[in-house]
Amino acid sequence: MTNFIKTGVIGHPISHSKSPLIHNYWIEKYGINGEYKSIDIHPDNLQSGVQKLIDEGYKGFNVTVPHKINIMDLCYEIDDLAKEIGAVNTVTIKDGKLYGTNTDAYGFAQNIKINAPNFDFKKGKAVILGAGGAAKAALYALEKEAVPEIIITNRTKEKADNLAHGIIKSIDWEQKNNAIKGANLIINTTSLGMTGKPNLDIDITKISPHALINDIVYAPLYTDLLKTAKSKNIQIVTGIGMLLYQACRGFELWNGTTPNVTKELEDLALS
Ligand code: ATR
Repeated sequence: MTNFIKTGVIGHPISHSKSPLIHNYWIEKYGINGEYKSIDIHPDNLQSGVQKLIDEGYKGFNVTVPHKINIMDLCYEIDDLAKEIGAVNTVTIKDGKLYGTNTDAYGFAQNIKINAPNFDFKKGKAVILGAGGAAKAALYALEKEAVPEIIITNRTKEKADNLAHGIIKSIDWEQKNNAIKGANLIINTTSLGMTGKPNLDIDITKISPHALINDIVYAPLYTDLLKTAKSKNIQIVTGIGMLLYQACRGFELWNGTTPNVTKELEDLALS
């Protein structure tokens, strides 16, 4: 079939990925002649696995665990955004060459802007819990939104220290309850609170009633952190929007159509 747009997501394992559900929903909704597949590529076969996609005429693909960093070596060009975040999650293939970008920072910021439209990033300090890939994307977005001060804290302090510069300061994990006092925004980027993982142990009474709490965990959608915050009338934003909005960008790049994030799609991604 001519002009059939082949896209997908590479990872290992990949069966848990929600991306095929999201992209194929939009492919059907917008009448795109194409398909988005889950592609399992073992880390030992990254190069040959990606070459196969090039040979098969793929237009692009998303990149998930554990390939977000190693894919960078295979890219012909990486944009400044992905370079700064230090990871590629979206690749476009042109003339057999890979062009890498990162849409996680966009997804993170858009999730908050759409779901908490009155929130003012510039109003005060933000606290980021965790220092992995998601934390890096959040950091990038917060700096772009002109947050005046960012505190980052992580169980492994060294990883937080490595991200500290300028307005970004790192503190000990044990000090997190002091850091959240007076914060304008608190973001959980750790896996704590996820189904099967321990809960994030923070003292919610220390949080200002005017703060916004965002958990990037979306399984469950309402983590203990978010449930407790909600019960204290603190504004919350769940994590599913980050996944949906980061997907928008890739879809746009490959299919030339800007897709909408709807409640129906959110429910589908959570099913
Ligand atoms: P992602 O790319 O989604 O951010 P990641 O890089 O594996 O995933 O990061 C997971 C984050 O959760 C890290 O900040 C990790 O802390 P460490 O750097 O110390 O590993 C954090 N995390 C995972 N389990 C944790 C736990 N039991 N207590 C505190 N932090 C935890």
